[in-house]
Amino acid sequence: MAETINKDAIEPIQEETLESGIQHVNNPVLDLPQIVKKYLQKITGYVQRGNSYVFTDGSAAVEVKVVSDEIIRIRLAPHSQFLDDFSYAVPNPDQHVALYAFQEEEDTYSVSTNTVTCVINKKDFLISFQDREGQVINRDHTPMHWEENPDFGGYYVYCTKVAEEQEAFYGVGDKPTHLNLRGKRLTNWNSDTYSFSFDQDPLYRSIPFYIGLNKGEAYGIFFDNTFKTYFDFAAEKHDQTSFWSEGGELQYYYIHGPHMMDVVKRYHSITGTHYLPPLWALGFHQCRWSYYPESKVHEIAAGFRSRNIPCDAIYLDIDYMDGYRCFTWNKHYFPNPKKMIKTLADQGFKTVVIIDPGIKVDDNYWVFKEGKENKYFCRRGDDYFMEGHVWPGRCQFPDFTNPETREWWGGLFKGLVDVGVAGVWNDMNEPAVFGRGTFPNDVRHNYDGYRGSHRKAHNVYGMQMVRATYEGLKKLNHGKRPFTITRAAYAGTQRYSSVWTGDNVATWEHLRLGVLQLQRLSVSGMSFCGTDIGGFSGEPDGELFTRWIQFGVFSPFMRAHSAGDTREREPWSFGAELEAINKKFIELRYKFLPYIYSVFWEHAQYGFPILRPISMLEQAIESNIPREEEFSFGDKVLVSPVVNPGQVSKKVYLPAGYWYHYWSDTVLKGGEEHDIATPLDEMPLFIKAGAVIPEYPVMQYVDLRQVDSLKLRVYYADIEVNSFLYEDHGDTFAYEQEIYLEKKIVLKGEKNSLTLNQTIDGLFTERYETYKLSFIGLPFEINRILVDNRITEWKEEEGVPTIQVDKDFRNIVVE
Ligand code: GLC
Repeated sequence: MAETINKDAIEPIQEETLESGIQHVNNPVLDLPQIVKKYLQKITGYVQRGNSYVFTDGSAAVEVKVVSDEIIRIRLAPHSQFLDDFSYAVPNPDQHVALYAFQEEEDTYSVSTNTVTCVINKKDFLISFQDREGQVINRDHTPMHWEENPDFGGYYVYCTKVAEEQEAFYGVGDKPTHLNLRGKRLTNWNSDTYSFSFDQDPLYRSIPFYIGLNKGEAYGIFFDNTFKTYFDFAAEKHDQTSFWSEGGELQYYYIHGPHMMDVVKRYHSITGTHYLPPLWALGFHQCRWSYYPESKVHEIAAGFRSRNIPCDAIYLDIDYMDGYRCFTWNKHYFPNPKKMIKTLADQGFKTVVIIDPGIKVDDNYWVFKEGKENKYFCRRGDDYFMEGHVWPGRCQFPDFTNPETREWWGGLFKGLVDVGVAGVWNDMNEPAVFGRGTFPNDVRHNYDGYRGSHRKAHNVYGMQMVRATYEGLKKLNHGKRPFTITRAAYAGTQRYSSVWTGDNVATWEHLRLGVLQLQRLSVSGMSFCGTDIGGFSGEPDGELFTRWIQFGVFSPFMRAHSAGDTREREPWSFGAELEAINKKFIELRYKFLPYIYSVFWEHAQYGFPILRPISMLEQAIESNIPREEEFSFGDKVLVSPVVNPGQVSKKVYLPAGYWYHYWSDTVLKGGEEHDIATPLDEMPLFIKAGAVIPEYPVMQYVDLRQVDSLKLRVYYADIEVNSFLYEDHGDTFAYEQEIYLEKKIVLKGEKNSLTLNQTIDGLFTERYETYKLSFIGLPFEINRILVDNRITEWKEEEGVPTIQVDKDFRNIVVE
C-alpha cells in the first residue's frame, strides 16, 4: 500500500536532528532519500479483535487495547505490521477486564471502561484519555509520528502530548535531579557512571515510566520500549511533553489515577512488585571494595559483635575471586570459604558476594569453557565474539536474553550456595566495558527468541542477568527467598532484585541526591532501593557519615559501601562519640524492622511504593510540589533527613493531621512547617497520630526465633486509624500460599478513652506469645484498662503506661 505523506509534515532534516536528539547520517554524495517524519493521518477504518481495537489511516495502524479497568495500551505500527507482542517488563498485558464499550460518533471513536475513556479523533488521529466525568486527563499534542531508520531498519518513533501549564512530572527511575521533572530532557540508556553528578543523565537504569500531576489529578505513562528512549518534559516547548525512541515499537500504557498512589499500584499490577525479601535483607549490611583476606572479614565481623552494633550481612567484593573469575575463590585470601562462611553464620552474619557479567577468556577456566562450548556468549554482527576488557582483563559476555544462557547461569551459583553464600550482588551489568563504555550496537541478542541487536537489548541486559541470578538462586535455595541486588535495571526488574544507586560520592550534595533518587526509584516501581551509605568514592567526615546512616535507617535497603582507595569506613571509624550515634541509629533500624517488614508486605502484595514523596501524600496541594526532603516510609512514619553540615535545626513540613515527634513524643499539627532541632544524635522523625508501631527489642541480627514478646507503641489520636502488622516465616515463599498473618489493629480515640480492636487474617501461627502495649500521648488520666472486658493492670515504663497482653486479645479499652 502506498504511503501517505503529509507534505506539511516534511521538515528539513537539520531541524529534526536538533529536536529529537537522535543523530542521523545524511549522505549528500549518494543522494539518499531525505528522512522525513511521517504522521498519522485521517482514520479510514477500524477492526475489533477481542479487547483491542485497531484503527488505520490506510497505511499505518494503531491498536487501542483495554488492559484493565484503569489501563489502556496504545501501539503504533507504521506499516500496519505490529511487532511481536513480547515484553520483558510486562509478562501479561491482559488483566481482568470487567466491561468495556466502543462508540463511534461523527468525529471520534471511543473505547471506554468503567473508569477511563480513550477518545480517538477521526480527522487527525489525536488520542486523548478522559475520566468518567469527561474531563480530559491526558491528550496528544501531535499525532504519533515516526521516521525510517536507514541504518538499522525500523523506525524512530515519537509521541508528543500536551503539557498542561501547571503540570508536574515524576518518576523515570534514578535520575539525579529534582523530584519534579518539568523542564528536563532525559535519556534512558544504562550507563556505568562512576562519581556521577547532579543532573547527569543517563545513569544506570532505564525506567521509561512517568507520572503526570495536573491540578491534583495524576495519571501515568509507561513507554515500554527497551531501545534508547528520550523524554522531554516541557523542556524544549513549554506546552509539550514528548517521548521517543531510536527503535522498536511506539507502545505505551496510559494508567489512570487520579491518585498518584493508584497510578503506582497499577503500574505495579502490570510490571510486578518485589517479592517479600528475606527479613535479614532488611537489616544493616556492611560492604567495602574489598574485605580480604579472610582475617579481615573476621575482624569486621568481630568489630560489630564486640561493639554490639547490629549487622546482618557482610559483602565480598571482586577480590574474593581468583583473578576476578566469576564463581571461583582466591584460595590465597580465602583458603576455606565454607568454613569462613559457617563461622560468620554462627555469629549471625550472612555472606553476600559480587558477580559481574564479564567472563575471562581463559580456556582453563570452566565457566568460560562451558559458555564457549554451548554458545552462550554474545556475538557481533558478523559473528565474532563480543570481547571487551573489564576487571579480569579480556572477557566475553553471556547473552542473558537467551533463556538457555539464563538457565546455565542460574546453575553456576550452585558452588557458591553450597559453601553457604546467602545473597548475590550483580554489578557492571549495564553492561560496562572499560574504554568503550558498553557493547557496540551490532552485538546480536537472542531476546527470548524475538531477536535483536544491542540497541534493543542493551537496557534489559542487566535485568536479564539478575533475573537469571534470582531464578537460579530460587531453585538452589530450596524454597528460601533469594537476596539479589543489581546496578542496572529496566522496568520490571523489581520482580527479581533490589537496586542501589551506584557509585555515588562522599559529599553532602550526594546525600541529598540520594534522598531524591530513592523517592524517585520508589515511585518508579523500584521500591527496594538504597544508596552507598557514606558515599562510594571520596572521604566523608564523621558528621556526613552519621547523617547518611540516619537516612539509611529509612532507606528501604541499608548498606554502607566504599571504594577501595578510601579510608576504612565502618560505623566505628569516626571516633567513640560518632560510633555511639551510629550504633543508636542502626539499632533504630532493628527496632523498626517489624514495621519495615509490614511495609514491604504492603508493597509486595498490593504494589504500594515504600517511600512516598510529600507530593504523593498530598497531591492536591500545589505548594507541596517543590518539597523534596520530607518523605514517608509506609504511611505511618515521616522523615526529613538532615542533608547539610552543621545543621542545628530544620524546617520540616508535616502533612495534614497530627504527628508525634519521635524523640520527645510531642504532638505537632500537620499541614504546616515546624522548626525541628537537629542535634547530631537526632534526625527529624515523626509518627502519624493514631498509629500502632510494632517494635523489636534491639537485636544484633535478625534471629527469627528470638522474639517472644513484641512491643506495640500506640500513639493516641482522636480519630480512627488502621494499623497492620505482618508476620510470616521471614525467609520462605510459603506466604504465597497464605501462610502469613496479617494483624489489623483499629485504633479509635475519644476525649476520655481509647479503644483498640484486633482482627487476624492468614494461616501463619503467630510468633509472639504476648504483646506489650505502651500508650503514648493519652490526653486523659487512666482510670482503668479493660482487655476483652477484664480489668488489667498497667505500669509506667519509660514514663508511659504499659500493659502486657496475650497474643489473641480482641479488644482493649483504656479509659
Ligand atoms: C563498581 C561498583 C562498586 C564496586 C566496584 C568493584 O564500581 O559500582 O559498587 O565496589 O565496581 O566491584
